[in-house]
Amino acid sequence: MLVARVLVGVTGGIAAYKACELVRLLVKSGHDVMPLITPSAEHFVRARTFFALARRAAGDDPYPHLTQADLLVIAPATANTLAKLAHGLADNLVTEAALAHRGPVLAAPAMNPRMWAHPATRANVETLRERGVDIVGPGEGDTGEGEWGIGRMAEPEEIFRRCRELLGETDTLRGRRVLVTAGGTREPLDSVRFLGNRSSGRMGVALAEEARKRGADVTLLAANLSVPPPHGIEVVETPTAQAMLDAVRAHADADLVLMAAAVADYRPRNELQDKRAKDGDVWQVTLEPTTDILRELGSRRENGQVLVGFAADHGEQGLARAREKRVSKGVDLVVFNDVSRGDIGFDAPENEVVLLGAESEQRIDRAPKDRIAAAIVEKAEELLRERA
Ligand code: CTP
Repeated sequence: MLVARVLVGVTGGIAAYKACELVRLLVKSGHDVMPLITPSAEHFVRARTFFALARRAAGDDPYPHLTQADLLVIAPATANTLAKLAHGLADNLVTEAALAHRGPVLAAPAMNPRMWAHPATRANVETLRERGVDIVGPGEGDTGEGEWGIGRMAEPEEIFRRCRELLGETDTLRGRRVLVTAGGTREPLDSVRFLGNRSSGRMGVALAEEARKRGADVTLLAANLSVPPPHGIEVVETPTAQAMLDAVRAHADADLVLMAAAVADYRPRNELQDKRAKDGDVWQVTLEPTTDILRELGSRRENGQVLVGFAADHGEQGLARAREKRVSKGVDLVVFNDVSRGDIGFDAPENEVVLLGAESEQRIDRAPKDRIAAAIVEKAEELLRERA
């Protein structure tokens, strides 16, 4: 999952104003939010407010999103909406989404305490719980009508925390700075041509997203990505090996560095300023080595930084070389993938890797890159904990 897509359903209660804060928190932490605002919710807060907070155009069509979300959260969920959900009615965008959506559903009820205590509401909530709907709140306090009792919507922060839990997000890297390199560098030959490689950046982007999900402050050094970078993280464009080196040096104090980018080992010695015209002659290019960034980091490392490198090589011999490289470059973990196989790795959505550590080796079976990323970050987190 690149960025979690969250449907935020707002139904007609005074607590609708608190849903604005929920949308803001979700967007700020990198989630892709689609607001679903019922006509009665519009009596309290205009739909355009939610769309602005979600950074969407006011007229954005919600229908394509109904079946593609990772989470549906309904806040506030009125007694009326709970009743409709319990019986499968689909008379507005929120209740339609509830039927169309296949994933976790979180409801934050908000109503007058007598409505919450009524056997009809109790039965509806029970039905929804049995069906797997997650209910957050309501809490005790003042209600909109000036009564005291249970019926007040849970606070936006609490709903937000529960959303993150349901999306499998944790805080295990909270307060940690994580630097990720992704993509493939391009070394200019002249004003239009370059020497490049096939790396799409998918693996690095998945790693950045995984670290973000775990609460880290993530910086992504992006070299010519062919996939969009995740939301909610700092992105620095580093198209060449030199730009990558400079940016890594500027961020070298990170707690965890994941070097997934395919950085050129050689670059043309002379970059032609203009475009080289075709003249029928042989074009000879001299290549000079670039700085091995990973090696430099490995040799200068201080403060318990965890350093993860990648090795793309062929077969068992490649695996042996990757083991040696881990030691010679002073790296904690090398992620080996076998590029002799055409179906995984470079420019593919799936990968299969071996995690080479000082004490252990772990084979991660073929899986989508986000799952591979989770295994890598999990292992790196373990190393960070050991250092602490
Ligand atoms: N790397 C780097 N700086 C470079 C080249 C590579 O930091 N100039 C990093 C990559 O980001 C990756 C790892 O080093 O994490 C790959 O190591 P490398 O020695 O380039 O491995 P291969 O290209 O697989 O093998 P080799 O060049 O030894 O054939």
